[in-house]
Amino acid sequence: MLEKKITEQSEWCEPFTFIQAADTQIGFSDDINWGGKGTGNWEIDAAHCWKLVENINKIKPTPKFLIICGDIVHAMPKGLIKYSDGGLLSSSKYSNYNSWKSQNKTFKNIIDNIKIPILYVCGNHDIGDRPTPISISFYESLYGQHFYAKWLFGIRIIVINSQLFNDSSDAQELQDKQEEWLIKELSMIKYKKPKHAIIFQHQPWFINNEDEDTGYYNIRKEIRKIWLPRFKESGIKKIFCGHYHRNSTVLTNDKKLEIITTSAVGKQLSQNEVNYNKSFEKDISDINPGMRVIRINDNINHNYYTFV
Ligand SMILES: [Fe+2]
Repeated sequence: MLEKKITEQSEWCEPFTFIQAADTQIGFSDDINWGGKGTGNWEIDAAHCWKLVENINKIKPTPKFLIICGDIVHAMPKGLIKYSDGGLLSSSKYSNYNSWKSQNKTFKNIIDNIKIPILYVCGNHDIGDRPTPISISFYESLYGQHFYAKWLFGIRIIVINSQLFNDSSDAQELQDKQEEWLIKELSMIKYKKPKHAIIFQHQPWFINNEDEDTGYYNIRKEIRKIWLPRFKESGIKKIFCGHYHRNSTVLTNDKKLEIITTSAVGKQLSQNEVNYNKSFEKDISDINPGMRVIRINDNINHNYYTFV
């Protein structure tokens, strides 16, 4: 194995590039509810994940790191509490421990071939739409802390667990801890004024505009109204997300904060499918699997690239 450790560094030295990706979601393409065959093998999503590996390993100069913004696999782990389905939040219907184990094994076997360090972010499929301390502990056993921050190459990287902002009913203590930590983190940034501080999460705060109604793909409006001003106040200008299986780049009304949602490494969704949050058999998405290349300089520039 190549050395892939990443050392923290708070002083800014020089411009650099890193990669953001989301929704490798091993197993999604096999899901019969989403046009899959239900055969129990993950070869379609595994092939997309290999494309991520091959594309990243070819980039010159070498990007400093990769950050994967959640939905690493499709099956949810154990520990989710069943509740009635049909609302905005899906139940534990995706919870399948054997598939969860097998999909994570498939993912690890592929991703270990990437030559650069990798940071992880948890998604709703990794810990549940309504996570519990147990479902989060399954994630942490494989990928580390569900929220954290690091100084990397002179910028502050803040990773949050968006699922707890989405619904903390079954893990309120953990969300209290996360909120307390995040408020401290934001005050530190406001005081220290790093060259850049960037937030990474799975579920976007919003997709089209900050006043849009609450839906499956954004964070509830009332929570959004509390946290977006706090982010702006601390000097955060960019938040990178996944979850949507499509691309979206949008500013807050005052243009101070950009929410960048990156499409999937794996299965893409059509506009109809995200509008109705269900599969449309005949729809073919207008987006192809890919990743986002982020260039850090005095500004932060980013572009989505389809895999070659
Ligand atoms: Fe996803």
